[in-house]
Amino acid sequence: MDVDNSLQQEIRSHLARLRWYLTGLYRGGMEHWPARTEAADARRQARDDSPQPALPENPPQNPAAILSDIQQELGDCKRCRLHATRSRIVFGEGSPAARVVFVGEGPGYEEDQQGLPFVGRAGKLLDKMLRALGETRQDVYICNVVKCRPPNNRTPNNDEVEVCMPFLIRQIETIRPRVICALGACAAHNLLGVSKPVSQLRGKIHYWRGIPLVPTFHPAYLLRNPSQKSAAWQDLLEIQRLARSG
Ligand code: URA
Repeated sequence: MDVDNSLQQEIRSHLARLRWYLTGLYRGGMEHWPARTEAADARRQARDDSPQPALPENPPQNPAAILSDIQQELGDCKRCRLHATRSRIVFGEGSPAARVVFVGEGPGYEEDQQGLPFVGRAGKLLDKMLRALGETRQDVYICNVVKCRPPNNRTPNNDEVEVCMPFLIRQIETIRPRVICALGACAAHNLLGVSKPVSQLRGKIHYWRGIPLVPTFHPAYLLRNPSQKSAAWQDLLEIQRLARSG
């Protein structure tokens, strides 16, 4: 490597560290979230320990076209058994330039019928939460770990997740949001490679290939456990803060 290149790289890495530091500053007001210095330390630790490969330096030029290529490649997918019972593939919906990507588990009945993510009861709650933040579905991007409905809305099996994950990964790589929100355990576990319950994962910023990832309760869980809505609201505020910073 010549001197110019290594100097450039050093400057870039200093700037990246400075940016990480500045985006780590905590603006307060969230009792469930760690205090400013702890949050910054946690970020630094997570970043330094992360075994995940970094994203390519330059973001994709035309994310809308790339998403459409990915969808075309997915095609009339028959890579796993879920194809046999699905009505429609639910690829994802929203802005290719979204600052926030929400990842759920897999389509339910309504999603399977309409071919769109989170349009059933849980989706209505997600819409309400987005509205409360001043966002719409068109501002963000919403997708799932698996693109076909598991029968009776069961949790997707590992082999089903394994064949579908590469498509999710490419969607996130393409959109390259400022923050990822993992809705529920399936998304959090498969993106982070961990198995703790969401109640233990939430309230802390994790990282997916350098992108802050905030796990929160799945809207369907919130419908069954409304007392957890205030915790989920704190998570959304943290997501909003991360989406606006940096
Ligand atoms: N639950 C999910 O995880 N995803 C959807 O799209 C709908 C319900």
